[in-house]
Amino acid sequence: MTLEVHLDADDLTRTLKADVLAGLTADPKWLSPKWFYDARGSELFEQITELPEYYPTRTERQILTDRAAEIARHTRARTLLELGSGYSTKTRLLLDALTTAGTLQTFVPMDVSPTALAAAAARISADYPGLRVHNIVGDLTRHLKHLPGGGDRLIAFLGGTIGNLVPAERAAFLSDVRSVLEPGEHLLLGTDLVKSPQIVVPAYDDAEGVTAEFNRNVLRVLNTSLGADFDLDGFAHVALWDPEHEWVEMRLRARWPMRVTIPGVDLVIELEAGEEIRTEVSAKFRREGIEQELAEAGFALDHWWTDRDALFGVSLARALPTA
Ligand code: SAH
Ligand code: AVI
Repeated sequence: MTLEVHLDADDLTRTLKADVLAGLTADPKWLSPKWFYDARGSELFEQITELPEYYPTRTERQILTDRAAEIARHTRARTLLELGSGYSTKTRLLLDALTTAGTLQTFVPMDVSPTALAAAAARISADYPGLRVHNIVGDLTRHLKHLPGGGDRLIAFLGGTIGNLVPAERAAFLSDVRSVLEPGEHLLLGTDLVKSPQIVVPAYDDAEGVTAEFNRNVLRVLNTSLGADFDLDGFAHVALWDPEHEWVEMRLRARWPMRVTIPGVDLVIELEAGEEIRTEVSAKFRREGIEQELAEAGFALDHWWTDRDALFGVSLARALPTA
């Protein structure tokens, strides 16, 4: 097992500081969702995946269970690269199918969360003894150029995490993915689909309050890493459906007027009662939109799979030769 670090503690802190300065001095205020995922945030996300309201994980798992053998036959991948891999739980379905097909040699998970990566890698190395596991601590919006080459690669980006990128980031990301692949190599992309807000919103506002804890965790990260004095009890969790953008927005709403000091970036911010900080967008997709975004980035959609209720979509796309 090997480890490659493109985001060490200093780089993480530098990037966090730049983001916090940009986001918390903007109007309206925002924070990037990548800062949810310290050890506690990664753990809370795993708990979210088991909630009855949170349909994406179990639905994508079902699609992968049904389609993994077909994915293995179609791609004949020797290297599986996984972006935003987290605990790589569903990925095992792909590892199993590619091992059975006899093609897989190397697994390369990349994540900003070193703790999730380490936990996943230890378990995967133990369970797949012949497999080379090469871990990359990195940011998928900055470090794709460090992904190893080698031919017959499959990049998996699961969970619907692409929906957490805003549209400009998404287009840049897909074009980066295309530029690291050779023509004929593949991208497997999980996307949550547009559906009734009555199903979507509860998935982001569960009865147990786990998602609320996950949302507030970003303030805990700022308190720990930058010495900020956010009072977590002072913020209400908000999840709302934006029909124009077809995404869910998570926000943190100040319950009373606040003055917060953030020594790590030498910043003091004022929040009015009711003022909100946007902490995440989670875009929902339609097949036509995905196909178009993939085409614009230089991919052909070879397969499109959904579950019976059309809650979640999995695309298998092939990198086209560049003109
Ligand atoms: N793929 C898993 C985990 C999804 S949670 C699944 O489908 O269940 C989102 C994951 O993406 C987290 O592990 C988080 O640490 C990671 N992540 C978020 N932003 C990232 C970024 N900019 N670069 C790399 N990883 C990122
Ligand atoms: C990781 N990502 C796809 C999750 C989502 O559904 O957008 C993150 C999440 N946010 C709240 N609950 C889960």
